[in-house]
Amino acid sequence: MDVAEEDPTNLPTKRRVRLLNRDDRLFHVILAQQFDRELIDHLCRIAEMTRIIADARAGARFLNTLLSHKRAMLYFIQPSTRTFLSFSAACQVLGMPHNDVRDSSTSSEVKGETEEDTVRVLSQYFDVIIMRHPSEGFAETMANKLNTMRRCIPLINGGSGKDQHPTQAMLDIYTLYRCFSPSLAERIRLDPERNLFDGKTIAFVGDLKRGRTVRSLAYLLTRYPGVRLLFVAPEELQISEDILAHLSRYDIEHELKFDLPEVIGECDAVYMTRVQDEHDKAGESGSIDLSRFSLTRDIESRLKPDLAIMHPLPRRTELDTYYDSDPRAKYWDQMRNGMWMRAALIAHVFNVDGAILDHYFSHYNY
Ligand code: CP
Repeated sequence: MDVAEEDPTNLPTKRRVRLLNRDDRLFHVILAQQFDRELIDHLCRIAEMTRIIADARAGARFLNTLLSHKRAMLYFIQPSTRTFLSFSAACQVLGMPHNDVRDSSTSSEVKGETEEDTVRVLSQYFDVIIMRHPSEGFAETMANKLNTMRRCIPLINGGSGKDQHPTQAMLDIYTLYRCFSPSLAERIRLDPERNLFDGKTIAFVGDLKRGRTVRSLAYLLTRYPGVRLLFVAPEELQISEDILAHLSRYDIEHELKFDLPEVIGECDAVYMTRVQDEHDKAGESGSIDLSRFSLTRDIESRLKPDLAIMHPLPRRTELDTYYDSDPRAKYWDQMRNGMWMRAALIAHVFNVDGAILDHYFSHYNY
């Protein structure tokens, strides 16, 4: 069977990654497993430089020229606020015109055109497709099908069912970099020998079974030996075995926990998530007791003074608004970091990240 025809998720990870990359660079961005430590460091540095360059009028003009000859399609047929808008803003930063389809009832899908054909159609008009889709594996399947077309353009996964959200994981790791290394000079130099995550404890809390952001971030964190991960969730919503097996393969210390107040004092970062009840079959998550899985004001005294409080958002009651103006609340920063990280990713895919590096070092001292 042709690779484009078979289910790519049945292939070994190395083979899947090879099909998505070109010449040792990202081409399609589908899986968190595509990112090694060197690439994560590189993209965090490019994101950091882009935000600094964009702050000056001349720098913003320079960035605006980089991809003005390319066009992006944002094909988001599952709801989104942050991912959609930050990709849109990232395209604007790089001068790339973009268009969107957010509701398939306005496309020829109502006349029976398949989603697969819709993606093929989009590939004829645009130079990159950024996609959010409710089905796990659809983005990867389409990337492999695009590989067989005469005109093959990159496909970027902006969230695929319950499976993966790799660009969210990249903005999360960039946020952690900024928390664990407050010095800009250090972040720009990023000594490859220095592992900012060594000795850090990070807790994931909430619906870990169906949260794609947690899955993708867990994959990325295998690149940091010495990190310790706590998965804090009710039994019914605990992290899946495949992620635990992956962490064990990479020798990443991890534990399952069932009570947030009990462990919060050990954490350097806490990653809260909401219950993903859109995936319920019959409202079953409504009966789960979540009282030990919320960051409430009554446990504030247990928090480390420099804890990073994170959440991919949107939130419900698991994260008390009491923390919103606390300097430890990094969930606002995550959103803005996402715009810069997504600009860095797009720049890398189109091979203009080197121009950003050169511009930075010719205009700034460190
Ligand atoms: N974090 C995130 O993916 O948010 P949206 O669903 O609003 O894009």
